[in-house]
Amino acid sequence: MAKSLLLFVSTLPFIAASFVHPGALHTADDFTRITNYVNAKTTPWYTDWELLLNSTYAQSTYTSQAVSAIYRGSDGVHAENYQLLYEDAAAMYQLAIRWKISGDSTYGDAAVSILNSWGSTLEVIGGDPDQWLANGIYGYQLANAAEVMRDYSGWSSSDITTFQNMMEDVFAAQNEFFLRTHNGSADIPYANWDLCNMASMLAIGILNDNSTKFDFVTDYFYDGWGHGAVGNGTNFIIANYTESGSTKILSQGQEAGRDQGHATLDFTLAGVLAQQAYNQGTDLFAAVGNAFLNGAEYCSKYNVGDDVPYTSYDSAEGLQSVISSDSRGDARPGYELLYAHYNDLKGLNASWTGEYRDYVNANITASVEGGGGNYGPDSGGFDGLGFGTLLYRLTA
Ligand SMILES: *[C@@H]1O[C@H](CO)[C@@H](O)[C@H](O)[C@H]1NC(C)=O
Ligand SMILES: *[C@@H]1O[C@H](CO)[C@@H](O)[C@H](O)[C@H]1NC(C)=O
Ligand SMILES: *[C@@H]1O[C@H](CO)[C@@H](O)[C@H](O)[C@H]1NC(C)=O
Ligand SMILES: *[C@@H]1O[C@H](CO)[C@@H](O)[C@H](O)[C@H]1NC(C)=O
Ligand SMILES: *[C@@H]1O[C@H](CO)[C@@H](O)[C@H](O)[C@H]1NC(C)=O
Ligand SMILES: *[C@@H]1O[C@H](CO)[C@@H](O)[C@H](O)[C@H]1NC(C)=O
Ligand SMILES: *[C@@H]1O[C@H](CO)[C@@H](O)[C@H](O)[C@H]1NC(C)=O
Repeated sequence: MAKSLLLFVSTLPFIAASFVHPGALHTADDFTRITNYVNAKTTPWYTDWELLLNSTYAQSTYTSQAVSAIYRGSDGVHAENYQLLYEDAAAMYQLAIRWKISGDSTYGDAAVSILNSWGSTLEVIGGDPDQWLANGIYGYQLANAAEVMRDYSGWSSSDITTFQNMMEDVFAAQNEFFLRTHNGSADIPYANWDLCNMASMLAIGILNDNSTKFDFVTDYFYDGWGHGAVGNGTNFIIANYTESGSTKILSQGQEAGRDQGHATLDFTLAGVLAQQAYNQGTDLFAAVGNAFLNGAEYCSKYNVGDDVPYTSYDSAEGLQSVISSDSRGDARPGYELLYAHYNDLKGLNASWTGEYRDYVNANITASVEGGGGNYGPDSGGFDGLGFGTLLYRLTA
């Protein structure tokens, strides 16, 4: 052991931990599988591909709206303009996927043009504390678009470096600041704030080949101090229940008593975080007794209209003594990824997650998962990158 370690060290002295590329949400094997389905016009994958081709954000004529400063939340001086960023994030990603699967450089060039404009223009994200939602949500989205494009011959290495530096300075530095300090708040943020900043920092760690960032996030997952710390007591999972009449564990997530828009968002973001780590060989899906499965099952069961048990939660906004029916049945993309992993890959019972996935898909005429642009014009419709039927589903 010591000998081979020595040999490794002496033959590869300057190589840091190496990452798989592309390797955030999608790997090369994933793209082979997806491209085969699309070329063979196999449903439901091909149907979701057609939905993508129809998207406003997947057109080569889409033009960048890059600006140097983005504001989310009011700082009393600047108008909010973060719609520019979430629309362009959807466009970069959808064009990147369209290029990767079709091989058509028209879409590769369009994706690169938007990536470059933000890479060379964006300097700061401000606003009120909501600015850290922008750092987290759009951070993971931009990093994933770039990760898909990184081997494109039409993206120059100097432009890639410019983009990576922007991601480090504008996004990752703030993701880390937020996770370390919550800007001085003892307990304000709900879980989605942590989860999106964890997902972003991990994605940028992969994009920028920075294992310090990757390790920071996986450590935080186990024993961090905020509500994204899944392994730390009741920070993320408030209570576990054995489902009556089955052996299944249902876990109450931290935002169940707040509203269902955020409760469902938590598991969309959990899926992003876990998928990105899994593609680098770290299994957060299985961690803490499959916590993300148990939580997604609880959340899905309630949102498809069934009852679930509930334990009072003393939130930073006060006692939440009943589960919140606010926005119950909200349609959120992201559960194709969770169901594909737990049911298809791991063979675990994810039946409620599957029901919620189908419920969300039924919201779209073609009965597949949509992405940015398919769930309304507001930011919530752009929180998940979507198109999961095309990108994650393993069995019809
Ligand atoms: C895509 O658009 C075409 C033309 O409007 C339409 O016929 C088709 O049903 C759409 N496909 C999907 C999956 O939405
Ligand atoms: C972060 O905390 C500092 C110190 O309390 C405060 O001045 C600043 O307004 C906070 N930032 C945001 C965006 O809320
Ligand atoms: C890697 O990430 C760590 C933690 O965020 C940071 O301190 C360091 O500067 C990064 N390394 C490079 C080369 O950017
Ligand atoms: C776990 O979270 C609590 C806050 O809920 C925090 O005080 C504690 O430091 C965390 N544990 C570790 C090991 O970081
Ligand atoms: C829920 O179950 C997991 C896995 O057994 C365990 O690690 C965790 O501590 C439990 N959480 C609560 C709040 O009981
Ligand atoms: C999966 O779990 C549900 C309860 O959540 C149960 O009704 C169903 O029979 C289980 N499916 C299998 C194949 O065990
Ligand atoms: C889709 O879901 C939203 C709620 O998230 C709802 O307002 C809308 O009516 C649904 N549309 C369809 C076609 O089901």
